[in-house]
Formats: sequence, C-alpha cells, structure tokens
Amino acid sequence: MRNAIAALPDTLISQIAAGEVVERPASVVKEVLENAIDAGSRVITVRLEEGGCQRISIQDDGIGIVHTELKLAVMRHATSKIRSLTDLESVASLGFRGEALASIASVSRLSITTKTTEDDHAWQIQVSGGQLLDDINPASGNTGTTIDVQDLYFNTPARRKFLKSAQTELGHCLDVIRRIALSRPDIAFAIWHNGKIIDRWTNGSIEQRVDAILGEEFHNARIEVQNMAGPLSIRGFISKPTSSRARADQQFSFINGRFVRDKVIQHAIRSAYQDVLHGDRQPMVVLSLEIDPTLVDVNVHPAKTEVRFRESGAVHQFLYKTIQNALSSGGGQSITTIDHQAAQDISPIHSNWLGQMANQELSFRQSNKNSIDQFFSKIDTKHLTQDQDFQTDNDLPLGHAIAQIHGIYILSQNKHGLVLIDMHAAHERVLYEKLKQDLANGIKIQQLLVPLVMHASELEVSKAQEHQSTLKQLGLDVAALSPTDLAIRTIPSLLQKADPISLLRNLLSDLDLTGSKAVLDAVQHERLATQACHAAVRAHRLLSLAEMDSLLRQMEQTERADQCNHARPTWIQLSIQDLDKLFMRGK
Ligand SMILES: Nc1ncnc2c1ncn2[C@@H]1O[C@H](COP(=O)(O)OP(=O)(O)OP(=O)(O)O)[C@@H](O)[C@H]1O
Ligand SMILES: [Mg+2]
Repeated sequence: MRNAIAALPDTLISQIAAGEVVERPASVVKEVLENAIDAGSRVITVRLEEGGCQRISIQDDGIGIVHTELKLAVMRHATSKIRSLTDLESVASLGFRGEALASIASVSRLSITTKTTEDDHAWQIQVSGGQLLDDINPASGNTGTTIDVQDLYFNTPARRKFLKSAQTELGHCLDVIRRIALSRPDIAFAIWHNGKIIDRWTNGSIEQRVDAILGEEFHNARIEVQNMAGPLSIRGFISKPTSSRARADQQFSFINGRFVRDKVIQHAIRSAYQDVLHGDRQPMVVLSLEIDPTLVDVNVHPAKTEVRFRESGAVHQFLYKTIQNALSSGGGQSITTIDHQAAQDISPIHSNWLGQMANQELSFRQSNKNSIDQFFSKIDTKHLTQDQDFQTDNDLPLGHAIAQIHGIYILSQNKHGLVLIDMHAAHERVLYEKLKQDLANGIKIQQLLVPLVMHASELEVSKAQEHQSTLKQLGLDVAALSPTDLAIRTIPSLLQKADPISLLRNLLSDLDLTGSKAVLDAVQHERLATQACHAAVRAHRLLSLAEMDSLLRQMEQTERADQCNHARPTWIQLSIQDLDKLFMRGK
C-alpha cells in the first residue's frame, strides 16, 4: 500500500528541527544566550534547575522584543536578523536561522517576558509543546527579555530518555556558558543552580575573563598572541609547551565571536606545537579570530559550531605562523623573573643541584686533598674574569659558563645570578633548529631505483594530478599511470625510511584540508628530531669552558631554545634573590 504525500504540521516540523538544534539542555542555554548577546545585553543571569532538565531561565537587559512581534519570535523561520541571501552571506549576528525559539517551544513549556524601552510595561507569551497557551498578556519586568524553559522534552518521551543525570547535564550547560563568557568579557554573567549562585563574572578585560574561567594554571602558563593580516586578525592566549594537558578540553577558538570546532584551526594549533610538544599532550588555548564575514560560511550545520572558510589554506598558514612565532619568542622561562609554576618546578632541582655540588666537591676532595686551595682559587679567578666580561659583553642572557656538573649540567653566571643548563637537551634543540633551517633552504631528493606503483582511489589520483607541482616541490615526483594507479618516482632524502605510500596519502588529504604541507613537515621534523637527538652531545661528556660558552651563545641565537624537543625546559634561572632565599640570607 502506498501512503499519500502530505505536508507535515508546523509543530512536527519544529520538533524535527529540534532534533538538531536542541540536543540537550545545554543547547537551549546556548541558543538563548546567543539571542541575549545579539540583543546587545550587558548583564545576563542564568538560572538552572536540575542541570537545566527541569528549568532554564535566562534574563537579559537587551533591547527586548516589540510585543506585536512576540508571536513571530516563536514561529519557525521568523527572524529580525537577516532579510536576504546577501545578508546571510555577510551575517554578523550569532543567530540568523529564525528557528531556535520555535524548536525549543515545540519540545518544552516556554514563556517569554519582554519589555522594550518604548513599552510602559512588559509583555508575556506562553507556549507549551508548540501550542500558544493564551494571548499575549501584560506582565511585570524591566527592559530586556527573560526566556523561561521548563520541562524540556515533556512531550517527546523518547528524547527525554536520552537525558543524563542532572550533574552531567549541568556540566554540559556550564561548558557552554564558559565558552560564551570567554567570547564576551564585556558582558557580566551570573549563574545560579537550584537556587544557589555558582559563578559570577563581572565585565572586564579579556585577561580578567580568561583568568576567571581558566584559572591559575593557565594564568601562569599563558603567552599572549596577537596578529593581523589583511582581512584576518587574531587575539588570544596560548599555553607554554611546558604546561600541557592530556586532553584537548581547554582549547577554545572563536570566529567572529562564535565558538567553533574547526578542523583547520585545530590542525594549525597542533602543527604549531608539534615541535615543542609531545604528540599525546595538548596545549591550552583561547583564540579569537576575526575575519571578514563574507570569507567564512557559518551556515553549515543548524548548531553553527562548524564553519567553512573560503580560503582555508590562508587561515591555516596565518594561525600556524602566529602561534609558532609566539611559541618561539615567549615559550620559555623568563630570564628575569621566575613565575610561580617555574618556581615549583625548580624546587626539586634545587636539592638535586645542591646534592650534586656537594658530591662534586667531595669527589674533588677525595682525589686532590692536597690541592684544595688551588681548586677554590681557580674558581675565584674565573668569577673575577666573568664579572669583567659582564661589563664589556653587556648582559648575555645565558651568561658565561663556570663549570660542568657530572657531565650533565652546565653552570653559568649571568647578571641576574645563576643559570643551570641541561647540556644534552640544549644541544639537541640547537641542532634540531639548524637541521630544520637547512631543510627550509632546499629539499634534497632521492630518486627511487624502480618507481613505486601504488593502487589509489580515483579521487586520490585526481587530487595527485591537481597538486602535482606542489608535490614535486616537496620532493615527491608523482605521476598517474591509470585512473586508479599512481607511480612515485622520487621522495625527499630525509624521509628515506618513511613509507612513501602512507606519506603521499596523508599529504593528499592534508593538501586538501589546509592547502599546506603540514604532513610532510611533521614527518620530516620527526626524523630531524631523531637525528638531532643522536648527534647531540651525550651526557657525561666533558666540555671545555669555551665549548660550553659556545653552546650558550648558540642557544641564545636559536628559536625555541627554551625547551628541548620533548618540551622539557633546557635551562633554568636562579636569581640572586632565589639563592639568598635558599640560604635564608637577609632573614
Ligand atoms: N533575548 C532576546 N532579546 C531580543 N530579541 C530576541 C531575544 N530572543 C529572541 N529574540 C527575537 O526573536 C527572534 C527569533 O529568535 P530565534 O533564536 O528563534 O531566531 P534567530 O536568533 O533569529 O535565529 P537562530 O535560529 O539562528 O537562533 C530573533 O530574530 C529576535 O528578533
Ligand atoms: Mg537565536
């Protein structure tokens, strides 16, 4: 039997749409907060009951809704934010689909109380499961809007079953609220749960908001990022590689004020950190990207957390370079101040170092008991020449080497006090950066004896043809033999040991995503890192003072010399004050 085709009733259409827009209480919070922001609010209060499953009430002080338009506000495809396709293509507001309130109203009991500055009093509308309950009625209330959503999914029990515990739903709501609050430090927020206030953020600077939401760990580890290029600008904070996390749960990126999860951005962040962070560690970032709205499509998914860039390659490069530069200039411990975290990191080293000094002296005493005075006089003389050098050399950041401890650490004196350097890690870093520089100056190519034939999909073959010249620049000479066969004739010499087929596959998918050669860089850099590690001075090798000084000078000239390839610090500063504290001097 064949059913007749019939148009669906409006409420059912909204309920279907609600499947995508209102996934859980947190999505209601997101939609209602975005409306409050679009309405120009300065103060927003969120009240939740039972993780939002029972009630979500959000009060704002925005422009309000004109009461004659209140019914339209809960109708599908009714919006004040766009009028035409041209408006859509350059949309600057967070909402534009005109369906959030209709979707929410179709699966809950919703009331809207609102007042504009022109109104003498507020007005209220009530909708239950998509049905208007009464006419619009006068109500009490200040200028602005309060949206009250009760009993989410009361009329869609199948959906209601998917709700998790109140605690879990509360967690999701708070995640959404934090993201939105991070994007708008100029708006004050207060968050209540079951009648108790749980968070309150006054309006202020981006720094204050980031500190309030991400806390001390990020405060101590953050590097500021700021850059501009044509229609793109970025502002935000990223963590030093020495502070990382196991999960990517503290990564917030915004495009034109909208929180997004975007592959291009995520890839750029990962690539920028790949030199300084182990693959399984995640940085913390808060990055706010501003871009000409015509260059980005936000109408990809109803929830609007995905976007499509017109020029994804350019955005990738811009982000990658910006983060990489920030990391190479500000990644390590400051030479003049030791921050809280670094100070904590140092304390175990203090005792180690003191222990080693004692051992060193003991072993010296044991082997030269007679020449003990000679030992100290030698050190003293060295100090004197150091002090003289400071006057002429000005302040060399890493100072002059004084001694080597157990063939592992270099001890150096600079104008602030004492510097301890992990000589293997530091040398490894210097070599690695040098190898990378060599690589950037030209790729060496290895001709394969017999071309490697690989079976590929038609899509891969066409992509390989499209990117043929880029691939060649990267050292991969690839030709199509048939619609489903590719031949690889050359590979980059540095990657002799890599698997050319998986390299090409990764490269093809990456060229598409980012328009860059991120994969090749990643593999090559990994090889370089291994080479650098093997070539670096081994621990326990004795270096002369001149050799040590030369390493220090190379470090000063090397980008990212503050961490080794495994994100451990390569040097640590102990200021005179730190030393005084150790010996309780001046107390
Ligand atoms: N808090 C608010 N203050 C002022 N006007 C509001 C508020 N919330 C909703 N509105 C009005 O109601 C309309 C419908 O809101 P709704 O969220 O359904 O759609 P939208 O925001 O236009 O688009 P989207 O579905 O993408 O969110 C909005 O266009 C706006 O005019
Ligand atoms: Mg909206």
